[in-house]
Amino acid sequence: MAESPRPLAVVTGASTGIGHELAKHCAENGFDLIVAADEPRIHEAAQAFRGMGVEATAVEADLATLEGVDKLTAAIGGRPVDALLANAGRGLGKGFLDQDFDQVRHVIDTNVTGTVYLIQKVGRGMRARGQGRILITGSIAGFTPGTYQAVYNATKAFLDSFAFALRHELKDSGVTVTCLMPGATETEFFERADMLDTKVGQAKKDDPADVAKTGFEAMMRGDGDVVSGWHNKLQTAIASVTPAGMLAEQHRKMAEPGSGQK
Ligand SMILES: NC(=O)c1ccc[n+]([C@@H]2O[C@H](COP(=O)([O-])OP(=O)(O)OC[C@H]3O[C@@H](n4cnc5c(N)ncnc54)[C@H](OP(=O)(O)O)[C@@H]3O)[C@@H](O)[C@H]2O)c1
Repeated sequence: MAESPRPLAVVTGASTGIGHELAKHCAENGFDLIVAADEPRIHEAAQAFRGMGVEATAVEADLATLEGVDKLTAAIGGRPVDALLANAGRGLGKGFLDQDFDQVRHVIDTNVTGTVYLIQKVGRGMRARGQGRILITGSIAGFTPGTYQAVYNATKAFLDSFAFALRHELKDSGVTVTCLMPGATETEFFERADMLDTKVGQAKKDDPADVAKTGFEAMMRGDGDVVSGWHNKLQTAIASVTPAGMLAEQHRKMAEPGSGQK
C-alpha cells in the first residue's frame, strides 16, 4: 500500500451503517482505505471496497481501548493520512440506573476516549504536513438531553463541541475538521442499543447512504458542520431555542422502553 499513488482515508466503524457508506464514498472518490471495526465483518467490508478498485486494509480492533487505537495507527504505519473519518460509535438505551456499567463505559470509551485518542494521534501528522481532513460523526442527539439514552447523548454533545473547538484550533493549519450530525438513521444502531421497543427505534429513519453522502461532501468542502436532512435541520433549530427540560421530556417520549408499538 505504501507504493499507491492514491490518497488514504481511514474510516472507523466501516463494517456497517453510516461508516460503511462513508468508506464507499471514499473509495468511489479514489481514496485507498484503512477501515476498522471490532468484529470480523470488517474483513468482508474491506474485500468489497477492494472490488471498487482501491486498496483496502481491514483492522479488527476494539476502539474503546487505547490498545485498539494503537493497533489501528500501527496499521497506518508511516503513510500520510489524507482523511480521517472518526465514525465508530454505539448507543445504549434504557434508564441509566438500570444499565450495566461495563456497557456504559464501553459507550463512553468508544464514542469519546477512543475517538479523541485516534484524532490526536492522526491529527498531529496532518498538522505537521499542513494538510488533512477530519470528519467526526457527532449527532443531533448532542443538542438534546437524552432521557433513556442519557450517556449516549452526552457523548455526542461532547463530540459536537469538541469538533468545533478543534476546528478553530486548527484554523490556518491546512487541516479541516467537519462534524457530521445525523438524525435517526436506518442502521444496526438501535438494535445494538437495545432500543427496538421504543418509538424512535420503530420510527421511519434516514437512509445511511444519504447521510454519508452529505457528510462526505461536507468534509471535502471543509465545512464546519452539517446536519443531514431538512427535518433534522428544523429539529436542531427548534432545539436551540427550547428549554433543556422540555427537550428532555420530548426525548423521554421517543426513547422510553416500551414507548413503541407492541
Ligand atoms: N443510526 C443513527 O440513528 C445515528 C444518528 C446519529 C449519529 N449516529 C452515529 O453514527 C455512527 C455510526 O453508527 P451507525 O448508525 O452506522 O451504527 P452501526 O451500524 O451500529 O455502526 C457502528 C459501527 O461502529 C463500529 N464500532 C462500534 N463500537 C466499536 C468499537 N468499540 N470498536 C470498533 N468499532 C466499533 C461497529 O463495528 P463493530 O460491530 O465491529 O463493533 C460499526 O462498524 C455512530 O458514531 C453513531 O453514534 C447514528
